[in-house]
Amino acid sequence: MDSLSLISLLTLCLFCCSFLIQAQQPYVGRKTTDCENPDTSDSVLGYNCNGVSMSCQSYLVFRSQPLFNNVTSISNLLSSDPSQVATINEVSETATFRTNQMVIVPVNCSCSGDHYQKNTSYTVGGGEGYFLIANNTFQALSTCQAIQNQQPGISTRNLTAGMRITVPLRCACPTKNQTDVGINYLLSYPIAEGDTIQGISELFGADPERTLEANQLPDLRSTIFFFTSLLVPLRDPPSRVTAPSPPPPRASPPPPNSPPGGSSNRTWIYILVGVLGGVGLISVVCMVIFCMFFRKTKKKTDPIISSESLEAYEKPLEKSLDDGSQDFIDSMSSIAQSINLKIYKFEELQVATDDFSTSNHIKGSVYRGVINGDFAAIKKVHGDVSKEIQILNKVYHSNLIRLSGVCINQGNWYLVYEYAANGALSDWIFNRDDNGKYFSWKDQIQVALDVATGLNYLHSFTNPPHVHKDLKTSNVLLDGDFRAKITNFALARSTGGGEGEFALTKHIVGTKGYMAPEYLENGLVSTKLDVYAFGVLLLEVITGKEVTAFYSDEHMNLSDILSNVVDNGREGLKDLIEPSMLENYPSELVLVVVQLINSCLKQNPTVRPAMDEIVKSLSRIQTASSALDS
Ligand SMILES: *[C@@H]1O[C@H](CO)[C@@H](O)[C@H](O)[C@H]1NC(C)=O
Ligand SMILES: *[C@@H]1O[C@H](CO)[C@@H](O)[C@H](O)[C@H]1NC(C)=O
Ligand SMILES: *[C@@H]1O[C@H](CO)[C@@H](O)[C@H](O)[C@H]1NC(C)=O
Ligand SMILES: *[C@@H]1O[C@H](CO)[C@@H](O)[C@H](O)[C@H]1NC(C)=O
Ligand SMILES: *[C@@H]1O[C@H](CO)[C@@H](O)[C@H](O)[C@H]1NC(C)=O
Ligand SMILES: *[C@@H]1O[C@H](CO)[C@@H](O)[C@H](O)[C@H]1NC(C)=O
Repeated sequence: MDSLSLISLLTLCLFCCSFLIQAQQPYVGRKTTDCENPDTSDSVLGYNCNGVSMSCQSYLVFRSQPLFNNVTSISNLLSSDPSQVATINEVSETATFRTNQMVIVPVNCSCSGDHYQKNTSYTVGGGEGYFLIANNTFQALSTCQAIQNQQPGISTRNLTAGMRITVPLRCACPTKNQTDVGINYLLSYPIAEGDTIQGISELFGADPERTLEANQLPDLRSTIFFFTSLLVPLRDPPSRVTAPSPPPPRASPPPPNSPPGGSSNRTWIYILVGVLGGVGLISVVCMVIFCMFFRKTKKKTDPIISSESLEAYEKPLEKSLDDGSQDFIDSMSSIAQSINLKIYKFEELQVATDDFSTSNHIKGSVYRGVINGDFAAIKKVHGDVSKEIQILNKVYHSNLIRLSGVCINQGNWYLVYEYAANGALSDWIFNRDDNGKYFSWKDQIQVALDVATGLNYLHSFTNPPHVHKDLKTSNVLLDGDFRAKITNFALARSTGGGEGEFALTKHIVGTKGYMAPEYLENGLVSTKLDVYAFGVLLLEVITGKEVTAFYSDEHMNLSDILSNVVDNGREGLKDLIEPSMLENYPSELVLVVVQLINSCLKQNPTVRPAMDEIVKSLSRIQTASSALDS
């Protein structure tokens, strides 16, 4: 043992002794996200019952999220009193908060056994395990260990959608030492990216030194982690928090516009992109190596905030080219458990697909398999799939394809998805007359509504909002009942901010004809990218023609073409849709759909409708279509 470790050991001992004297609540950091760790000896289960009172008024901070963004839903989630929530945040009881706004929630905290807690009851959503509930829904105001402890005998895998569980929220009452110095309340604060102990204290008018004491942290530079909770000691009840406005999105310069035509020019761009990509890749590799070597030694002196709690879940997934060492597989399994993904052995997939036989080949690198008597689609990927796994793990919606498990073998990933019996939408709409495949008007509207509903979920109900970025008819699959499911989330990404916010990217990827002009020209990414692609998809669906067929003239844009059609009314439709198809369509409604498509294809992203509006329009069109029949 070297002298450095000795010193740290000594410091630790001294530190421990001082805990005993001061008896405040130890900050446990990352342990609260380590759901597999059976050690629940300290405050991962809750803060110790060491206060003056067995129960007291306490406060929680919750950040408004799409599903919990108004006084009613937040009070309900955290079992608080809506009128108190409204009063303390200086809003009305019907108010809605903007995403990520800090909301103060008063709760009555009391001792239950050894720990302080506030019980709330929660209905489990699909695909949620204890980690997701504690971290994502309750934002670290509870921990996976505490929730699990409250439901004896029910493991994270036993959770099913619709189950009611008790969630103990982390709260605490002041100790004698704290009341002696005038502290009357403790507020549980979920740490977010960019927070410092000093900053959090100032936000609530607390003394940073007292905050350190309250959490038994040694100094202001101590490492704190995202998605863990910190106690803020207060003299007076907290008042409405006006958070500093978030930093502006880091704008990287947009790429140069592609010069018109000129294949030699293009070649140069490709070379440039290649070189830049290579440089990028090398720097990433260097950074990874650097981190691996320096992390161990640097850890203790690291900056105030660290994302290691996150890395615990993300890192191993990024090691996509790993050789599948036992350690790696073990860590994969623990991740998969906490996020409800099954890890398959490669042999299981070989059996399922008859050793990836040609008769089970669907297309590309996708195979059909039979697992536990059910069909599954198995996609082989060489490369980093952590993004796709992360996204699919967060989303759970009947119009988005579900990822049920993963497998890694010889540097390749195998993603196991739910199976869509009728294959890609593109196979149905572009080959209408062969094999009698025929897609009626009502089928078309149903598919459009399904796709719009799936996108609306991605845009408005995931946190942060996500953009699919590669919506097209071949990325929409149809199940046995011809209900649509969006697939291929390889390019999907979060917008980084609220819905409608923009981010910039230098890396233009997507499918020709489907990419919105602002993305092609400036690399602007927002949910309106998917709205544009949805317009293109719907156009292809109702006309049965691929989008490239509409570009007779390079300088024409789709919006101009559609505007012409709309201006000419029913006569105009003949330019767009084959007469043989048109005669089977309800003409009053076709025009409404064409208008909807036209609005999605507007050059200016801000005037395109949001996905929820599109869902509403399509629902009305669907109702009207059914009415025509009867
Ligand atoms: C209160 O804190 C002081 C130091 O600030 C310490 O000396 C004392 O023992 C503590 N008392 C209790 C009951 O924790
Ligand atoms: C609050 O939000 C929930 C869930 O998003 C919603 O169902 C409810 O109608 C909203 N209530 C009010 C008063 O806005
Ligand atoms: C907490 O308890 C007090 C009195 O015991 C009660 O008036 C108040 O409504 C309670 N608050 C909540 C949020 O339940
Ligand atoms: C919370 O609920 C558990 C049962 O799930 C119960 O044993 C405990 O006493 C409750 N605690 C409080 C503070 O209500
Ligand atoms: C924990 O939850 C936050 C939102 O509360 C989310 O941004 C973050 O990605 C989650 N962490 C993990 C590892 O899922
Ligand atoms: C939870 O699942 C395990 C196996 O996965 C099973 O043995 C156990 O009985 C289940 N528990 C409950 C309460 O359903």
